[in-house]
Amino acid sequence: MSNTKILVTGATGQLGRLVIQSLLKRLAADTIIAGVRDPARAADLAALGVEVRAVDYSKPEMLAAAFAGVDRLLLISSSEVGARAAQHRNVVDAASKAGVGLLAYTSLLGGETSPLPLKAEHVATEDYIRASGLPFVLLRNGWYLENYNGFIPSALDHGVVAGAAGEGRISAAARADYAEAAALVLTEGVAHAGQIYELAGDTAFTMTEWAAALSAASGKPVRYHDMTEADYRALLVQVGLPAPVADLLSSSDAGAAKGGLFDDSGTLGRLIGRPTTSLATVLKAAVV
Ligand SMILES: NC(=O)c1ccc[n+]([C@@H]2O[C@H](COP(=O)([O-])OP(=O)(O)OC[C@H]3O[C@@H](n4cnc5c(N)ncnc54)[C@H](OP(=O)(O)O)[C@@H]3O)[C@@H](O)[C@H]2O)c1
Repeated sequence: MSNTKILVTGATGQLGRLVIQSLLKRLAADTIIAGVRDPARAADLAALGVEVRAVDYSKPEMLAAAFAGVDRLLLISSSEVGARAAQHRNVVDAASKAGVGLLAYTSLLGGETSPLPLKAEHVATEDYIRASGLPFVLLRNGWYLENYNGFIPSALDHGVVAGAAGEGRISAAARADYAEAAALVLTEGVAHAGQIYELAGDTAFTMTEWAAALSAASGKPVRYHDMTEADYRALLVQVGLPAPVADLLSSSDAGAAKGGLFDDSGTLGRLIGRPTTSLATVLKAAVV
Protein backbone atom coordinates (compact mmCIF):
# COMPACT_ATOMS: atom_id res chain seq x y z
CA MET A 1 0.00 0.00 0.00
CA SER A 2 2.80 2.42 0.79
CA ASN A 3 3.61 3.04 -2.89
CA THR A 4 -0.02 3.22 -3.95
CA LYS A 5 -0.88 6.65 -5.29
CA ILE A 6 -4.39 8.00 -4.90
CA LEU A 7 -5.59 11.03 -6.86
CA VAL A 8 -8.74 12.96 -5.94
CA THR A 9 -10.13 15.35 -8.56
CA GLY A 10 -12.08 18.48 -7.58
CA ALA A 11 -9.82 18.60 -4.53
CA THR A 12 -10.41 22.31 -3.93
CA GLY A 13 -14.18 21.70 -3.90
CA GLN A 14 -16.18 21.12 -0.74
CA LEU A 15 -16.42 17.33 -1.06
CA GLY A 16 -12.89 16.97 -2.44
CA ARG A 17 -11.33 18.80 0.50
CA LEU A 18 -13.20 16.53 2.92
CA VAL A 19 -12.04 13.41 1.04
CA ILE A 20 -8.41 14.59 1.25
CA GLN A 21 -8.83 15.29 4.99
CA SER A 22 -10.25 11.82 5.48
CA LEU A 23 -7.45 10.19 3.46
CA LEU A 24 -4.85 12.07 5.52
CA LYS A 25 -6.21 10.35 8.65
CA ARG A 26 -5.51 6.96 7.04
CA LEU A 27 -2.52 7.37 4.76
CA ALA A 28 0.82 9.15 4.45
CA ALA A 29 0.45 12.52 2.75
CA ASP A 30 2.95 11.59 0.03
CA THR A 31 0.61 8.88 -1.27
CA ILE A 32 -2.18 11.41 -1.89
CA ILE A 33 -2.48 13.61 -4.97
CA ALA A 34 -4.88 16.55 -5.12
CA GLY A 35 -6.17 17.10 -8.66
CA VAL A 36 -7.21 20.74 -8.95
CA ARG A 37 -8.02 23.30 -11.62
CA ASP A 38 -6.05 26.02 -9.90
CA PRO A 39 -2.98 24.81 -7.96
CA ALA A 40 -2.69 28.24 -6.30
CA ARG A 41 -5.88 27.40 -4.37
CA ALA A 42 -4.32 24.21 -3.04
CA ALA A 43 -1.27 25.71 -1.32
CA ASP A 44 -2.61 24.54 2.05
CA LEU A 45 -2.75 20.96 0.77
CA ALA A 46 0.79 21.18 -0.63
CA ALA A 47 1.95 22.47 2.77
CA LEU A 48 0.60 19.25 4.31
CA GLY A 49 2.78 17.18 1.94
CA VAL A 50 0.03 16.33 -0.53
CA GLU A 51 1.17 16.44 -4.17
CA VAL A 52 -0.85 18.91 -6.21
CA ARG A 53 -1.45 18.33 -9.92
CA ALA A 54 -3.38 20.41 -12.43
CA VAL A 55 -6.55 18.58 -13.51
CA ASP A 56 -9.12 20.28 -15.72
CA TYR A 57 -11.78 17.94 -17.07
CA SER A 58 -12.19 20.05 -20.18
CA LYS A 59 -8.49 19.87 -21.12
CA PRO A 60 -7.84 16.27 -22.26
CA GLU A 61 -4.23 17.05 -23.17
CA MET A 62 -3.33 17.78 -19.53
CA LEU A 63 -5.14 14.77 -18.08
CA ALA A 64 -2.85 11.98 -19.31
CA ALA A 65 0.15 13.62 -17.63
CA ALA A 66 -1.86 14.34 -14.51
CA PHE A 67 -2.79 10.68 -14.07
CA ALA A 68 0.70 9.22 -14.70
CA GLY A 69 1.57 6.75 -11.93
CA VAL A 70 -1.88 6.98 -10.33
CA ASP A 71 -3.22 3.67 -8.96
CA ARG A 72 -6.61 4.80 -7.66
CA LEU A 73 -8.57 7.75 -8.91
CA LEU A 74 -11.64 9.45 -7.48
CA LEU A 75 -13.55 11.36 -10.15
CA ILE A 76 -15.69 13.88 -8.31
CA SER A 77 -18.51 14.79 -10.66
CA SER A 78 -18.08 18.21 -12.21
CA SER A 79 -20.19 21.12 -11.02
CA GLU A 80 -20.59 22.35 -14.61
CA VAL A 81 -24.05 20.89 -15.25
CA GLY A 82 -24.62 20.36 -18.98
CA ALA A 83 -20.91 20.03 -19.79
CA ARG A 84 -20.32 17.16 -17.40
CA ALA A 85 -20.82 14.08 -19.54
CA ALA A 86 -18.18 15.24 -22.05
CA GLN A 87 -15.82 16.34 -19.27
CA HIS A 88 -16.14 13.02 -17.49
CA ARG A 89 -15.47 11.13 -20.73
CA ASN A 90 -12.16 12.99 -20.99
CA VAL A 91 -11.25 11.85 -17.48
CA VAL A 92 -12.20 8.21 -18.12
CA ASP A 93 -10.23 8.14 -21.40
CA ALA A 94 -7.14 9.55 -19.68
CA ALA A 95 -7.50 7.14 -16.76
CA SER A 96 -7.64 4.23 -19.20
CA LYS A 97 -4.55 5.45 -21.03
CA ALA A 98 -2.68 5.91 -17.76
CA GLY A 99 -3.60 2.38 -16.62
CA VAL A 100 -5.33 3.49 -13.42
CA GLY A 101 -6.13 0.42 -11.30
CA LEU A 102 -9.40 1.64 -9.80
CA LEU A 103 -11.71 4.47 -10.81
CA ALA A 104 -14.30 5.64 -8.27
CA TYR A 105 -17.01 8.03 -9.44
CA THR A 106 -19.45 10.15 -7.40
CA SER A 107 -22.75 9.44 -9.12
CA LEU A 108 -26.39 10.05 -8.16
CA LEU A 109 -28.51 7.98 -5.78
CA GLY A 110 -30.56 5.47 -7.74
CA GLY A 111 -28.59 5.83 -10.99
CA GLU A 112 -30.76 4.99 -13.98
CA THR A 113 -33.88 4.55 -11.80
CA SER A 114 -33.69 8.09 -10.39
CA PRO A 115 -36.63 10.36 -11.31
CA LEU A 116 -34.34 13.43 -11.13
CA PRO A 117 -33.53 14.95 -14.56
CA LEU A 118 -30.04 15.47 -13.12
CA LYS A 119 -29.49 11.74 -13.61
CA ALA A 120 -28.85 11.96 -17.38
CA GLU A 121 -25.19 13.02 -17.18
CA HIS A 122 -24.50 10.62 -14.30
CA VAL A 123 -26.01 7.66 -16.15
CA ALA A 124 -24.04 8.59 -19.29
CA THR A 125 -20.85 8.70 -17.21
CA GLU A 126 -21.60 5.40 -15.48
CA ASP A 127 -22.20 3.75 -18.86
CA TYR A 128 -18.97 5.18 -20.24
CA ILE A 129 -17.02 3.96 -17.22
CA ARG A 130 -18.47 0.44 -17.58
CA ALA A 131 -17.59 0.38 -21.28
CA SER A 132 -14.01 1.52 -20.56
CA GLY A 133 -13.07 -1.81 -18.99
CA LEU A 134 -11.46 0.00 -16.04
CA PRO A 135 -12.06 -1.52 -12.60
CA PHE A 136 -14.59 0.89 -11.09
CA VAL A 137 -16.70 1.72 -8.04
CA LEU A 138 -19.85 3.80 -8.26
CA LEU A 139 -20.49 5.99 -5.24
CA ARG A 140 -24.10 6.96 -5.85
CA ASN A 141 -24.42 9.83 -3.43
CA GLY A 142 -27.79 11.04 -2.17
CA TRP A 143 -28.45 14.67 -1.30
CA TYR A 144 -26.15 16.57 1.03
CA LEU A 145 -27.81 17.74 4.25
CA GLU A 146 -25.89 20.97 3.67
CA ASN A 147 -27.84 21.63 0.44
CA TYR A 148 -30.63 23.05 2.61
CA ASN A 149 -28.43 25.30 4.75
CA GLY A 150 -28.69 28.08 2.19
CA PHE A 151 -32.42 28.33 2.91
CA ILE A 152 -31.91 28.87 6.64
CA PRO A 153 -31.52 32.69 6.80
CA SER A 154 -34.66 33.37 4.79
CA ALA A 155 -36.61 30.59 6.55
CA LEU A 156 -35.77 32.16 9.92
CA ASP A 157 -36.59 35.68 8.67
CA HIS A 158 -39.95 34.75 7.16
CA GLY A 159 -40.90 31.70 9.25
CA VAL A 160 -41.45 29.70 6.09
CA VAL A 161 -39.45 27.62 3.64
CA ALA A 162 -40.89 26.87 0.22
CA GLY A 163 -40.33 23.90 -2.05
CA ALA A 164 -41.95 21.36 -4.34
CA ALA A 165 -40.85 18.18 -2.59
CA GLY A 166 -44.35 17.36 -1.31
CA GLU A 167 -44.28 14.55 1.23
CA GLY A 168 -41.22 12.98 -0.41
CA ARG A 169 -38.84 11.50 2.13
CA ILE A 170 -35.26 12.67 1.72
CA SER A 171 -32.41 10.52 3.03
CA ALA A 172 -29.79 13.24 2.97
CA ALA A 173 -26.39 12.81 4.61
CA ALA A 174 -23.58 15.14 5.59
CA ARG A 175 -20.95 15.82 2.93
CA ALA A 176 -18.29 14.65 5.38
CA ASP A 177 -19.95 11.23 5.63
CA TYR A 178 -19.93 10.75 1.85
CA ALA A 179 -16.30 11.91 1.87
CA GLU A 180 -15.40 9.35 4.51
CA ALA A 181 -16.98 6.58 2.46
CA ALA A 182 -15.04 7.67 -0.61
CA ALA A 183 -11.77 7.80 1.36
CA LEU A 184 -12.42 4.34 2.75
CA VAL A 185 -13.07 2.87 -0.69
CA LEU A 186 -9.93 4.54 -2.06
CA THR A 187 -7.86 3.25 0.84
CA GLU A 188 -9.13 -0.31 0.59
CA GLY A 189 -8.92 -0.34 -3.20
CA VAL A 190 -9.76 -3.24 -5.49
CA ALA A 191 -11.77 -5.07 -2.81
CA HIS A 192 -14.51 -2.61 -3.85
CA ALA A 193 -14.12 -3.08 -7.63
CA GLY A 194 -17.45 -3.60 -9.37
CA GLN A 195 -19.50 -2.33 -6.42
CA ILE A 196 -22.35 0.11 -6.82
CA TYR A 197 -22.99 1.79 -3.50
CA GLU A 198 -26.30 3.60 -2.94
CA LEU A 199 -25.22 6.11 -0.30
CA ALA A 200 -27.64 8.10 1.87
CA GLY A 201 -28.37 9.11 5.44
CA ASP A 202 -29.74 6.63 7.98
CA THR A 203 -32.79 8.78 8.67
CA ALA A 204 -35.12 10.35 6.12
CA PHE A 205 -37.21 13.51 6.52
CA THR A 206 -39.91 15.36 4.61
CA MET A 207 -39.50 19.08 4.11
CA THR A 208 -42.22 19.59 6.73
CA GLU A 209 -39.98 17.68 9.13
CA TRP A 210 -36.95 19.68 7.96
CA ALA A 211 -38.81 22.90 8.89
CA ALA A 212 -39.70 21.43 12.30
CA ALA A 213 -36.06 20.42 12.85
CA LEU A 214 -34.96 23.96 11.98
CA SER A 215 -37.51 25.34 14.47
CA ALA A 216 -36.08 23.03 17.13
CA ALA A 217 -32.49 24.02 16.34
CA SER A 218 -33.18 27.76 16.20
CA GLY A 219 -36.03 28.20 18.67
CA LYS A 220 -37.98 30.09 15.97
CA PRO A 221 -41.18 28.87 14.28
CA VAL A 222 -40.67 27.71 10.69
CA ARG A 223 -43.18 25.93 8.48
CA TYR A 224 -42.92 24.32 5.06
CA HIS A 225 -44.99 25.68 2.18
CA ASP A 226 -45.39 23.19 -0.65
CA MET A 227 -45.82 24.47 -4.21
CA THR A 228 -46.10 23.02 -7.69
CA GLU A 229 -42.80 22.53 -9.50
CA ALA A 230 -43.66 25.39 -11.92
CA ASP A 231 -44.64 27.81 -9.12
CA TYR A 232 -41.54 26.96 -7.10
CA ARG A 233 -39.35 27.50 -10.17
CA ALA A 234 -41.01 30.89 -10.75
CA LEU A 235 -40.46 31.85 -7.10
CA LEU A 236 -36.76 30.96 -7.30
CA VAL A 237 -36.35 33.09 -10.43
CA GLN A 238 -38.28 35.93 -8.75
CA VAL A 239 -35.88 35.93 -5.79
CA GLY A 240 -32.95 36.23 -8.17
CA LEU A 241 -31.68 32.74 -8.89
CA PRO A 242 -30.44 32.13 -12.45
CA ALA A 243 -32.94 30.12 -14.53
CA PRO A 244 -30.70 27.01 -14.81
CA VAL A 245 -30.34 26.90 -11.01
CA ALA A 246 -34.10 27.38 -10.56
CA ASP A 247 -34.64 24.50 -13.03
CA LEU A 248 -32.21 22.29 -11.15
CA LEU A 249 -33.69 22.97 -7.71
CA SER A 250 -37.34 22.74 -8.74
CA SER A 251 -36.91 19.60 -10.85
CA SER A 252 -34.88 17.97 -8.08
CA ASP A 253 -37.66 18.77 -5.60
CA ALA A 254 -40.19 17.22 -7.99
CA GLY A 255 -37.94 14.13 -8.13
CA ALA A 256 -37.78 14.10 -4.33
CA ALA A 257 -41.60 14.21 -4.21
CA LYS A 258 -41.54 10.96 -6.23
CA GLY A 259 -39.20 9.35 -3.71
CA GLY A 260 -36.04 9.89 -5.76
CA LEU A 261 -33.95 10.99 -2.78
CA PHE A 262 -35.10 8.24 -0.44
CA ASP A 263 -32.99 5.24 0.47
CA ASP A 264 -33.18 2.96 3.48
CA SER A 265 -30.40 0.54 2.61
CA GLY A 266 -28.12 1.78 5.40
CA THR A 267 -25.14 1.31 3.07
CA LEU A 268 -23.38 4.57 3.96
CA GLY A 269 -23.51 3.91 7.71
CA ARG A 270 -22.28 0.34 7.19
CA LEU A 271 -19.38 1.52 5.01
CA ILE A 272 -18.20 4.17 7.45
CA GLY A 273 -18.89 1.91 10.44
CA ARG A 274 -21.04 4.36 12.43
CA PRO A 275 -24.43 6.06 12.26
CA THR A 276 -24.55 8.84 9.71
CA THR A 277 -24.57 12.45 10.95
CA SER A 278 -28.08 13.59 11.84
CA LEU A 279 -30.07 16.48 10.39
CA ALA A 280 -30.27 18.00 13.88
CA THR A 281 -26.46 18.03 14.17
CA VAL A 282 -26.00 19.76 10.82
CA LEU A 283 -28.75 22.32 11.54
CA LYS A 284 -27.39 23.05 15.01
CA ALA A 285 -23.96 23.82 13.52
CA ALA A 286 -25.53 25.95 10.79
CA VAL A 287 -27.72 28.17 13.00
CA VAL A 288 -25.07 29.24 15.54
N1 LIG B 1 -25.15 15.11 -3.64
C1 LIG B 1 -25.48 16.38 -3.62
O1 LIG B 1 -26.35 16.85 -2.87
C2 LIG B 1 -24.76 17.33 -4.52
C3 LIG B 1 -25.00 18.70 -4.42
C4 LIG B 1 -24.29 19.55 -5.25
C5 LIG B 1 -23.39 19.04 -6.15
N2 LIG B 1 -23.17 17.70 -6.22
C6 LIG B 1 -22.21 17.09 -7.16
O2 LIG B 1 -21.12 16.62 -6.37
C7 LIG B 1 -19.92 17.31 -6.77
C8 LIG B 1 -19.07 17.61 -5.55
O3 LIG B 1 -19.85 18.39 -4.65
P1 LIG B 1 -19.18 19.65 -3.93
O4 LIG B 1 -20.12 20.02 -2.87
O5 LIG B 1 -17.76 19.38 -3.62
O6 LIG B 1 -19.25 20.74 -5.10
P2 LIG B 1 -18.27 21.99 -5.28
O7 LIG B 1 -17.80 22.50 -3.97
O8 LIG B 1 -18.98 22.92 -6.21
O9 LIG B 1 -17.01 21.37 -6.03
C9 LIG B 1 -17.04 21.03 -7.37
C10 LIG B 1 -15.63 20.68 -7.77
O10 LIG B 1 -15.65 20.36 -9.17
C11 LIG B 1 -14.52 20.98 -9.73
N3 LIG B 1 -14.69 21.21 -11.16
C12 LIG B 1 -15.69 21.83 -11.79
N4 LIG B 1 -15.45 21.87 -13.11
C13 LIG B 1 -14.25 21.28 -13.29
C14 LIG B 1 -13.43 21.04 -14.43
N5 LIG B 1 -13.79 21.46 -15.65
N6 LIG B 1 -12.26 20.40 -14.24
C15 LIG B 1 -11.86 20.00 -13.02
N7 LIG B 1 -12.58 20.20 -11.89
C16 LIG B 1 -13.76 20.85 -12.04
C17 LIG B 1 -14.42 22.32 -9.01
O11 LIG B 1 -13.13 22.86 -9.20
P3 LIG B 1 -12.70 24.27 -8.53
O12 LIG B 1 -12.38 23.94 -7.10
O13 LIG B 1 -11.54 24.68 -9.32
O14 LIG B 1 -13.88 25.18 -8.65
C18 LIG B 1 -14.67 21.87 -7.59
O15 LIG B 1 -13.49 21.43 -6.99
C19 LIG B 1 -20.41 18.54 -7.52
O16 LIG B 1 -19.45 18.96 -8.45
C20 LIG B 1 -21.66 18.03 -8.18
O17 LIG B 1 -21.38 17.28 -9.35
C21 LIG B 1 -23.82 16.85 -5.41
